Amino acid sequence: MEKKRIVIGYEQCKPEELTADELRLVESAKMATKSSYAPYSHFSVGAAALLDNGETVIGSNQENAAYPSGMCAERAALFACGSQFADRAVKALAIAAHDGKNFTDRPITPCGACRQVMLEAEAWGKHEMTILLFGKQFVWRVVGVTKLLPFTFSSDFIVGENE
Ligand code: THU
Repeated sequence: MEKKRIVIGYEQCKPEELTADELRLVESAKMATKSSYAPYSHFSVGAAALLDNGETVIGSNQENAAYPSGMCAERAALFACGSQFADRAVKALAIAAHDGKNFTDRPITPCGACRQVMLEAEAWGKHEMTILLFGKQFVWRVVGVTKLLPFTFSSDFIVGENE
């Protein structure tokens, strides 16, 4: 038996350690929480995607009385990117969350389904994505979606070497 290990690197940043573009994107994600529709969880999530043409596309969580019909902020933003800017790469995605009183102290991290969609957005854009996870105490910067989703499922398994 061979033991293996995956090591995942990420950065914990103070606001002044973010670039101007990153700071702007985090502010857009915080602003996006205002359009959240979260009457059930009262947890408002905002996401902002920076495209390679400089456009920013936002998304927020949209809940529904039939709970599984709702949508997370990250996927709302990325599906909007695909719908409105099909040919553009997503360079960075910022995520923030508000509990009705305050933004979260610690960074919010995306759910598994959103990670899978982020991974495919990175593949379609052919551009490593920087993920900025906002918390009032600090921002986590993760470069590359595979760091958030090791052992990912990939379409290469279906259309790749087996053919
Ligand atoms: N939510 C997101 O928008 N993004 C995530 O990555 C996880 C959770 C939303 C779904 C639901 O509307 C609320 O947060 C509480 O789970």
